[in-house]
Amino acid sequence: MLKLGNFSSIIVANWKLNGNMEFINQYYQKLVLNPNNCVVICSPSIFLNKLEINNKNLFSGAQDVSIYQEGAFTGELSAKMLDDIKIQFSLVGHSERRQYFNESNEIINLKSKNLIENNVIPIICIGETLEEKENNKTNEVLKKQIKESIPVSSNYENTIIAYEPIWAIGTGLTPSLDEIEEVHKFIKTVNVKLNNYKVLYGGSVKASNSDDINSLNNVDGCLVGGASLKVDEFNSIIS
Ligand code: PGA
Repeated sequence: MLKLGNFSSIIVANWKLNGNMEFINQYYQKLVLNPNNCVVICSPSIFLNKLEINNKNLFSGAQDVSIYQEGAFTGELSAKMLDDIKIQFSLVGHSERRQYFNESNEIINLKSKNLIENNVIPIICIGETLEEKENNKTNEVLKKQIKESIPVSSNYENTIIAYEPIWAIGTGLTPSLDEIEEVHKFIKTVNVKLNNYKVLYGGSVKASNSDDINSLNNVDGCLVGGASLKVDEFNSIIS
């Protein structure tokens, strides 16, 4: 498994249901990497092995994985298959999957467990809704998500956590820098096991705010949606 400790920052692009071959070819011609950062491009699964994988600091990642290992589960993609084509990362439990595909913490736990068993690093997404934030429930919600979605086999070397407040995703809104720092600190101390985990921030990250967010003590990188589709903007986030 890849050594996460080798990188000062981890920047993940989540393309969601976007992209085509022409887009990918142009993207790679223009992408400029930074040797200190680990960059993971989570493309739609059909393009996973079209990306330039296993460059020293550029990796391809899946956006989701099956809870099943193999068998009669039409349309699914297993952790073992990801490993077979040398994919080293997969998002798990993105809020869009939780919301539109009814993914529970238990499902996310099982998917993450399968990934770890197959040497693929799960990037487990957690985050609160606006209503939960306004009712001061953020810590309670995160604590429950952490307790239930992170498998026993997880550790700081084989798992990444991404904090994505749901109200910040695709809205242009972000928590203040102090709030991000405070929540990341909470995540890393909610359980002693999490002290050394890499915790990424996601939700309306763009070129104009990424430096400030990434320079926070307890932020180890970011998960970028919309802004990762514009390669020039993504280049300045990576740099
Ligand atoms: P956004 O999406 O950067 O467009 O807010 C982030 C995500 O959904 O991971």
